[in-house]
Amino acid sequence: MRYVLIGTGNISNTYVAAIGKIDGCEVVGCVSRSGNRPKSAPQIECKPTLAEIETPFDAVIITTPNGLHHEGAIEAARLGKHVLTEKPLDISLAAMDRMIAACETADVTLAVAYQRRTNPDNLALKQLIDQGAFGRIYAADLSCKFWRDQAYYDSGAYRGGWEIDGGGPFMQQACHNIDFYLWLFGMPEQVNSHYGTFMHAIEVEDHGAALLKYANGMIGTIVASTATKPGFPARLEVHSEKGAFITLDDAISFWDIEGVPNPARPTTTNRGEGASSAAVTDTARHEDILRDFEAAVRDGRPPLVDAHSARQTTEFILQIYGR
Ligand SMILES: NC(=O)c1ccc[n+]([C@@H]2O[C@H](COP(=O)([O-])OP(=O)(O)OC[C@H]3O[C@@H](n4cnc5c(N)ncnc54)[C@H](OP(=O)(O)O)[C@@H]3O)[C@@H](O)[C@H]2O)c1
Repeated sequence: MRYVLIGTGNISNTYVAAIGKIDGCEVVGCVSRSGNRPKSAPQIECKPTLAEIETPFDAVIITTPNGLHHEGAIEAARLGKHVLTEKPLDISLAAMDRMIAACETADVTLAVAYQRRTNPDNLALKQLIDQGAFGRIYAADLSCKFWRDQAYYDSGAYRGGWEIDGGGPFMQQACHNIDFYLWLFGMPEQVNSHYGTFMHAIEVEDHGAALLKYANGMIGTIVASTATKPGFPARLEVHSEKGAFITLDDAISFWDIEGVPNPARPTTTNRGEGASSAAVTDTARHEDILRDFEAAVRDGRPPLVDAHSARQTTEFILQIYGR
């Protein structure tokens, strides 16, 4: 699989490193407004638009800011190239619908890098929940108390704005954990929320909480923050008629479920990395996403994180915002 990266910032370097660890896979070019290449791939072809890339390629990876993902996806689909985009799929229903339609019309794969879904414990939990192994689940509480300093928001003119970032910690950082939450429990019937800006000079929220009511009666809570110094592991607590489990940064840290052995598996993932930084130096989960993407393209099957389920994550976050 030969990839072109669209966008050359922070996360593009994670892809260069991850792709370097996968046989038969390479980055052959990048698209950059500014003529930059990813720091870790100084030799690759670089052009201002995708159509100008001369080296043959099979797929693009979109690493531009959130609200620009649809532009890269639509252009790639027009050229008949498969698309792996960074999360979120995009920040508005209209943009997401346009990119999904473009990829479906062109018959190319559209996958999203919600890489927390590939974590071994998360995969095990998803399987058990789908099997109904917990009996009735009546509470699921997600806490994403992260920290970003003002320098993080100042590092890009678009950061911390509604127009391109599309929101604060709900849309930008906790969307990973929210995506996993919705993968487990689906969409709630009702969402109530409060959010505000406390610790940063930004337009969007830096702290908020949502209260969810599900059709089956389950009550959920989600806290998302980049204002909670020094930044804490993401925590999910689930209570059911058979007991409870807790995960910290996608690893099971407490398990007491009647009749179900703890499925925790060893993981090498760098736990805690996202609590206070946007850099992703542990590439293991991105490698999983890339391998799944290649298999999806090769076998003509949907990817693990398909566009429709990623669309739901943004749709839900927009409900939290009331936008
Ligand atoms: N999966 C994860 O764990 C994870 C982690 C971090 C970020 N992300 C996602 O990855 C995407 C990029 O994040 P990042 O941290 O890499 O951002 P970044 O460092 O700001 O890089 C974004 C790149 O997009 C390009 N770009 C094109 N149009 C732009 C515009 N109008 N304003 C700013 N940049 C523009 C720029 O490259 P050129 O100047 O070369 O065009 C820029 O370097 C976001 O969607 C973010 O949510 C995901």
